[in-house]
Amino acid sequence: MTLGIGIIGLGVMGADHAETLASCISGAHIAAVTDLDSERRAGAAERHRARGQATADDLIADPTVDAVIIASHDSAHAAQVEQCIRQGKPVLCEKPLAPSAEECLRLRDMEADLGLERPLVSVGFMRRFHEPYRQLRETLRSGDLGRLVLLHEVHRNVRAYPGTSASSIVTNSAIHEIDITAWLLDSPIVEASWHAPRLPDSPSDWHAPQLIHLRTAAGTLASVEVSVDYRAGYYVHCEVVGENGSARMAQPPAAHLTSNLKESTRLAPDWRPVFADAYRRELQEWTDSIAADRSTTLASADDALDAALVAEAVLASMNNEGVPTPVRRPELANTRATKGTNSDVK
Ligand SMILES: NC(=O)c1ccc[n+]([C@@H]2O[C@H](COP(=O)([O-])OP(=O)(O)OC[C@H]3O[C@@H](n4cnc5c(N)ncnc54)[C@H](O)[C@@H]3O)[C@@H](O)[C@H]2O)c1
Repeated sequence: MTLGIGIIGLGVMGADHAETLASCISGAHIAAVTDLDSERRAGAAERHRARGQATADDLIADPTVDAVIIASHDSAHAAQVEQCIRQGKPVLCEKPLAPSAEECLRLRDMEADLGLERPLVSVGFMRRFHEPYRQLRETLRSGDLGRLVLLHEVHRNVRAYPGTSASSIVTNSAIHEIDITAWLLDSPIVEASWHAPRLPDSPSDWHAPQLIHLRTAAGTLASVEVSVDYRAGYYVHCEVVGENGSARMAQPPAAHLTSNLKESTRLAPDWRPVFADAYRRELQEWTDSIAADRSTTLASADDALDAALVAEAVLASMNNEGVPTPVRRPELANTRATKGTNSDVK
């Protein structure tokens, strides 16, 4: 018996998860799918021989669905995760858990109130499963670089996510760097500030690229460049500077071209080829942990809340001339769920 997975949202990410599940993941099958778009729903149901459910609630309640992947629009995540918690079904929600810290806190508390040994909610911060980040983290843990002083991160998307605004660039895109910064440096982010170029002909409500500064409790300073509509090609980079040396992410292998008296390197059109292996590892670990009834090493609702609180401080700085803003830490009603370590990742 393999786990029956239900997928909500069959756009770019949901379709990608469905293909990965169907072709690379052992111990799970796609039991049901749903999307607001009935053609997408019917197409995916036929392709994966799964039930096409009319709504997210129907899919979550479906008895053949043991666990749920949410890849709908950011604004729909909170209600769908809430429904999964109510039904006691493990859920892998794409990032962000919800666009606001308040919603993340509500979901986090709702799950914590159940007092479960193993959390139901996992969040798709899949960079934690990307080998270059994992190697960087190991290097930082080894202490070879000495005390860590700076972290530089670059995140350039070729196209903006539908409905992108200046603030959703933070809650939807920069949220990856916010999560990976605290994860890499193993220190919570305590202060954030936000900056953007001011070109004379830019629309006043459009701020891209953005430059975000994050300071950790240990004192390390991180700079994050986030761009959307960067037509040149998808690009992610990370470099850590310590007192004794530095470590940086090697760029993924790519076709190197020589033609027309020029040498060039072909960049990925979007994030999927760059992170394909990370998605696979994330999904396999999630499936294995559910099947073995053990804690997962994916990001938790607590991690998603941490990231959302930092994003909240970034947005406050955006609306206050870039002033450095402390990250709010609300009193949490219940202790954090115990998590495994990422060394368990396959
Ligand atoms: N982890 C990552 O690297 C990564 C990368 C891209 C996107 N994402 C996240 O994945 C999610 C989906 O992004 P995308 O790029 O696939 O967007 P998309 O617009 O391509 O697809 C979203 C799909 O969800 C459907 N949908 C929206 N609301 C729904 C609802 N209430 N019920 C059922 N279906 C609904 C839409 O009809 C659409 O087909 C977003 O939350 C995004 O932030 C994560």
